[in-house]
Amino acid sequence: MNTNKIITIDGWSACGKSTVAKQLAKELGYVYIDSGAMYRAITLYFLRNHIDWTDIKEVTEALKNIDIQFHCNCKSQQSEIFLNNENIEYLIRDLVIAEKVSDVAAIREVRSFAVTQQHKMGEKKGIVMDGRDIGTTVFPDAEIKIFMTADSAVRVERRFKELFEKNPNITIEEVKNNLEMRDYIDSHREVSPLRKADDAVVLDNTHLTMEEQLAFALQLVK
Ligand code: DC
Repeated sequence: MNTNKIITIDGWSACGKSTVAKQLAKELGYVYIDSGAMYRAITLYFLRNHIDWTDIKEVTEALKNIDIQFHCNCKSQQSEIFLNNENIEYLIRDLVIAEKVSDVAAIREVRSFAVTQQHKMGEKKGIVMDGRDIGTTVFPDAEIKIFMTADSAVRVERRFKELFEKNPNITIEEVKNNLEMRDYIDSHREVSPLRKADDAVVLDNTHLTMEEQLAFALQLVK
């Protein structure tokens, strides 16, 4: 088992970052960390507790009550996210969270809270972390950086299929609007906007199968 590297995967919403990250982590025996899940967990906490996130004092106080951990589900062998000891893995994928998460993730205090934990998770290396600013801000010295992209119509279709399974009332328009809005906010915010790190390699998986994208990523690692 080779556990001496940090692999970062950044890119646009719904372009398959987590799929590649999970594939790579499994192949290499690394730990997979979904940094987006952390911002989604914080958003869930804010919504549940009616936190006014335009009020920085309120945000700072609220963050003190948030504990985020990842635990491996022994059955599925997948890592799942816990908010204050509650498994929220399946609650945070909802469109209700997706509609607010980019606003929450743009707050400086929220980012520094999440990044501090991400640094700790990377201390021993041997991790694959996906997100928007992992190769640029969180681990600028990471050994391997991938920047993922795919045609926007393909991304909308993929995310729509995922969400439709859980909610048959969802429309393709809603999904398209959400992805466009998040991509815009994520790439235009003041703190750590989404951008390709200069030393990241682009992986466009519009026309790639899962096997082909894994082969591409493994090639980079080797
Ligand atoms: O990867 P995801 O779609 O679950 O991420 C949800 C949101 O979290 C995304 O729209 C922007 C934010 N995010 C971020 O700002 N920085 C990260 N490293 C990961 C996610």
